[in-house]
Amino acid sequence: MPSYAPAITALTARPLALWKQLRDDLVWIAREHPDAVLASSLAAEDMVVFHAMSIYAPELQTLTLDTGRLHAETVQMAAAIRQHYQREILFFRPEPERVQAHVQQHGAHAFYESVELRKQCCQIRKVEPLRRALAGRSAWITGQRREQSASRSELARQEYDAVFGLQKFNPLTEWTHEDVWAVIRGLGIPYNPLHDQGYPSIGCEPCTRAIRPGEDVRAGRWWWEQRDSLECGLHAGNLHSSVNT
Ligand code: ADX
Ligand code: SF4
Repeated sequence: MPSYAPAITALTARPLALWKQLRDDLVWIAREHPDAVLASSLAAEDMVVFHAMSIYAPELQTLTLDTGRLHAETVQMAAAIRQHYQREILFFRPEPERVQAHVQQHGAHAFYESVELRKQCCQIRKVEPLRRALAGRSAWITGQRREQSASRSELARQEYDAVFGLQKFNPLTEWTHEDVWAVIRGLGIPYNPLHDQGYPSIGCEPCTRAIRPGEDVRAGRWWWEQRDSLECGLHAGNLHSSVNT
């Protein structure tokens, strides 16, 4: 076991059972899909999966979509990961010409103006790089949870991703926010410092704010939009099978 793998006896019954299920899922994925990749936003859920992968399926790779609009704290997580795990993350970035053309035509803050312009920005900065990152692979892994939003309430642990054309694994499907944090605290998993500043969910800097007491955990994402537009295209398949928030 690597030095960062503390005894899982630090966990109480429910998080321990979830952790073991995650371990078994990752071992199975690594065997059946050795080219599977974890898409990590470097937020809490993805750090849990990354930590488990580093111990039980270290051959699997991890990618981050660096949109060019991430918080400095998020970008710095890559250095923290390198130091803690001696592992590298693959960074995928948008095509500079497309970003430049969008900014020149609509301005640097067009995402606040309309859902359409916001989705164009997500398309250029997230979806196109993800398509490139997944090309030629047979599976990808996410840190999505059912509890996060109505559009994720029917999320399956394994599904075919018709948008990107490969298998998709969501091993944290049944985890609650509390489960995620019980495992992070119990196993000493490094996490983005923004989580301690009121950011339970972290995306791009201009499109994420801290939440206020009593607000939903995703209330700080694209907060100026109606709840029914809140997807960025990475998980567009969610919208086809269930109700959106
Ligand atoms: S989003 O669609 O609203 O942005 P969210 O932040 O909840 O998604 O993250 C859900 C999952 O999408 C993460 O667990 C991760 O697998 C993937 N993801 C989101 N943002 C990124 C990113 N910048 N890079 C890589 N994967 C990401
Ligand atoms: Fe652009 Fe905001 Fe989408 Fe990031 S979350 S890609 S800044 S619209």
